[in-house]
Amino acid sequence: MPIESAARLHAIGKALLIGAGAPPEEAETVMRHCIEANMAGHDSHGIIQIPGYIDRIKAGHIVPGAKWDIVQESPTTTVVDGNWGFGYVANERAMKLTIEKARTANVAAATVSRQGHIGRLAGYSLMAAEAGMIGLCTADSGRSPKHVAPFGGAEARLGTNPISIAVPSDLDGPFFLDMATSAVAAGKISLAAARGQAIPEGWVVAADGSASTDPKSFRQGGALLPLGGTEGFKGTGLAAMVEVLCGLLTGLGFGIDPTGRHNDGCFMAVFNVAAFRPLATFKREVAEFAQYLKDTKPAAGSPGVFYPGEIEHLKQQDRRAKGIEVEDATWAKLRELAQGYGVAGELGLS
Ligand SMILES: NC(=O)c1ccc[n+]([C@@H]2O[C@H](COP(=O)([O-])OP(=O)(O)OC[C@H]3O[C@@H](n4cnc5c(N)ncnc54)[C@H](O)[C@@H]3O)[C@@H](O)[C@H]2O)c1
Repeated sequence: MPIESAARLHAIGKALLIGAGAPPEEAETVMRHCIEANMAGHDSHGIIQIPGYIDRIKAGHIVPGAKWDIVQESPTTTVVDGNWGFGYVANERAMKLTIEKARTANVAAATVSRQGHIGRLAGYSLMAAEAGMIGLCTADSGRSPKHVAPFGGAEARLGTNPISIAVPSDLDGPFFLDMATSAVAAGKISLAAARGQAIPEGWVVAADGSASTDPKSFRQGGALLPLGGTEGFKGTGLAAMVEVLCGLLTGLGFGIDPTGRHNDGCFMAVFNVAAFRPLATFKREVAEFAQYLKDTKPAAGSPGVFYPGEIEHLKQQDRRAKGIEVEDATWAKLRELAQGYGVAGELGLS
C-alpha cells in the first residue's frame, strides 16, 4: 500500500473533484474534511470516498456549486436546504451560522437536508468547541439505502446514524465523541473489503441472518448490526432517535427513496459554555476530568484509559510523522480517474 502525505492526498483529491466539475473552493472544503478523517485514523471517511463522490456527481446525485437556501429561521433556529450540494459544504456553512447564532442567543440549532454525504461528524462539532462552545451534530442517511438491522432484525432499516459531541477544554487534543450508532461505520466494512481483511464477529449479519466475518457479505444482502452486541437495543434506540432528529425533523422522512440518492439529513445544536459556566474554568475542569479518567487503574491486558477523542489525537500525530496508508484498490481508482481527467502527469500518477 502506498504511504502518502496529507498534502499530496489533498492535492490529488482536489484535482479530481475539480475535474469532475466541483468549484475549487468546494473541492478544497471536501478535501479538508476527508483528509482530516484520514489523519484521525478514520480511513473509511478519507480519500477512499472520492471515487464514490465522483460517481454521484456523474449520476446527478451530488450537484457541485449548488445553492444553499435558508427555508425557515428564527434568532436561534435555521432550516437549511442544501439543494443536493456537497454535504461538507452545506453542513459546514450551517454550523458556522449556528455558532454565530449561539454567540448572541447562547443556544442555537439547525437542520440541513438535501445534501450529500457529510463524512466525519467531528468535523462540525469541533468547529463549535474551537469557538468555546459545546457542539452536537447528528446525521442519518436520509432516505438512501439503509445499512443497519434494528435489534432483533435481519434486514437493514436504519442508517449508521452517527452522533458527535465536542466540548472545549485545555487538553492538547480535543475532547469529543464521534461514533456511528451501528457496531461500526459502513465505510469500515468497505475498507476491510478493499484491504482483503476479515472483520470481527458482531459487525454484520449475512443475508440469511447468520453471523459473518466476511466484509463482502454486507454488500451481498447482509446488514450491519446495531451498537451494543447483546445489548444492541440501546444502539437501535440511539439510531432511532437520530433518525427522528435528522429524518423526521428535517422533513426527509424515513424508509428508502427508490432513486437511491444519498442524503445526509443533519441536526446540529450549539450551546455557549459561558452562558452556564466561565469558559476558562470549564475548559480547565474538562482537562482535569479527562486526566481523572486516564488515571484509572488499567484492566488486565489493556493499554489503559483514553479520553473520548484521544485516540484520534494520537493517530493524527502518528500520521503527521509517518504519512497515510492508501489501500491499493483506492490508489488504482485515483490513478484511473486522474488519467481520465488528464491530470495524471501533474499529480505524479502516470
Ligand atoms: N456521515 C455519515 O453518514 C457517517 C455515518 C457513520 C459514521 N460516520 C463517521 O465515521 C467515523 C467512524 O465512526 P465509528 O463509530 O466507526 O468510530 P469508532 O468505532 O472508531 O469510535 C469512535 C469514537 O470512539 C472513541 N474511541 C475509539 N477507541 C477508543 C478507546 N480505545 N478508548 C476510548 N475512546 C475510544 C473515539 O475517540 C471516538 O469518539 C466517525 O467519524 C463518524 O462520524 C459518518
